[in-house]
Amino acid sequence: MQSKMLAPLFLMLVFLSGCMSESQTIIDDEGARESSFDWGLPDSIPLPQEPDDNPMTEEKFQLGRHLFYDARLSTNGTVSCSSCHHQDKAFSDGVDRATGATGDVHPRNSQTLVNVAWYQTLTWGNPSLGTIEQQITLPLFGDDPIEHGLNESNSEQIIQAIQADPVYSELFISAFPDQDDPLLGDLVWDNTIKSLASFVRGLVSFDSPYDQGELTDSAKRGEALFNGERLECFHCHAGYNFSDATIDRETTFAELDFHNTGLYNIDGLGAYPSPNTGRHEVTGKAEHMGQFRAQSLRNIELSAPYNHDGSVATLEDVVSNYARGGRLIASGENSGDGRVSPVKDGFIVSFEITDDEVSDVVEFLKSLTDTTFINNPRFSDPWTEDD
Ligand code: HEC
Ligand code: HEC
Repeated sequence: MQSKMLAPLFLMLVFLSGCMSESQTIIDDEGARESSFDWGLPDSIPLPQEPDDNPMTEEKFQLGRHLFYDARLSTNGTVSCSSCHHQDKAFSDGVDRATGATGDVHPRNSQTLVNVAWYQTLTWGNPSLGTIEQQITLPLFGDDPIEHGLNESNSEQIIQAIQADPVYSELFISAFPDQDDPLLGDLVWDNTIKSLASFVRGLVSFDSPYDQGELTDSAKRGEALFNGERLECFHCHAGYNFSDATIDRETTFAELDFHNTGLYNIDGLGAYPSPNTGRHEVTGKAEHMGQFRAQSLRNIELSAPYNHDGSVATLEDVVSNYARGGRLIASGENSGDGRVSPVKDGFIVSFEITDDEVSDVVEFLKSLTDTTFINNPRFSDPWTEDD
């Protein structure tokens, strides 16, 4: 039974290393403002897309919340999603690279889970990961690196633990009312992935001082710099979610955009270290070397260290790297000269900036910190309440 039901998931993992089309036309003219879920969005923010086979419901969100905080979903009971995604850090984890259940170190930095519902692609640089459901199979079932470490031999035991817990019986039944037995062996994982995706999709953050129009004078100066042609930040960190990888129900055409920001020089010392070659890791195309997705900058103050491998310590350092036109480090682990990276995106050009201006830009970025989001009890560990 278990191999029958896990097989499609493993097939999907293989498929995910393939490619999807590079641009998409997405028009959702039906129900653009309709959802059975209370997204709680300000009027200015368009609804995100919801997959047809997994529309948002409060019941799936609540089940997903329990699963997100449950270490029983790992090979040795040590790792839950929340091990690497902490609410107080906007669901990142404060270390450069996270460690999975069996000691594997993930090559990349744990991402914030903030407005993930609005991203066109998932993870730091994978053009073929188009849905949160697809992404979630990787931490659960992936073996390179091992994160939760679920596999064909331990799956049955974990399913039994879920089935035996009366909290879950109730939650699965209300989340999947149309199924005779939503906890039946081959449905558990499918329902688990749908519910985890619903919880992640519901992690919404649009209540920062920036959203309230409460910027300090320094943050206002930083905003002008951010949106000016000297720094050019806004080209890639575009729109209401500060990422050009944003799609919503009003999107009519979406180009897949990834950028090389010159963190490493790609043909000299300190090349983008494997496997962290970004979009290139998936497409194999030389011109995609070092290209990553522009992250949302919402709650960025809380998610140090920065960049895809957590190799940049502070926001000031991030801005200085851009000002130099790429990172320059003489010696040590990340040594190299990112300024000479030949396929850098056209927007990454060096610029003059004073220390006061760097402070202003950082002050603006800090105005995107949403304390309602990190303290929202809807997003917190439910198991401490259920006992
Ligand atoms: C061992 C640490 C670890 C665990 C456990 C973990 N994650 Fe992650 N998560 C990461 C890392 C690292 C990334 C970036 C992956 C990449 O770029 O390849 C990430 C990325 C993501 C993303 C993509 C976010 C974006 O902005 O595109 C989502 C969604 C996500 N994780 C959800 C989950 C869920 C749900 C679970 C539990 C099933 C989970 N993660 C478990 C470390 C972890
Ligand atoms: C050409 C597109 C582009 C421009 C211009 C750009 N960025 Fe980025 N930004 C990116 C990409 C891509 C990443 C991820 C790169 C990586 O990690 O290798 C990123 C990462 C970041 C991060 C770290 C995100 C995290 O989660 O760790 C911050 C902070 C940031 N950018 C701020 C800025 C600021 C401030 C400016 C203007 C000075 C700027 N960016 C200009 C594309 C861009």
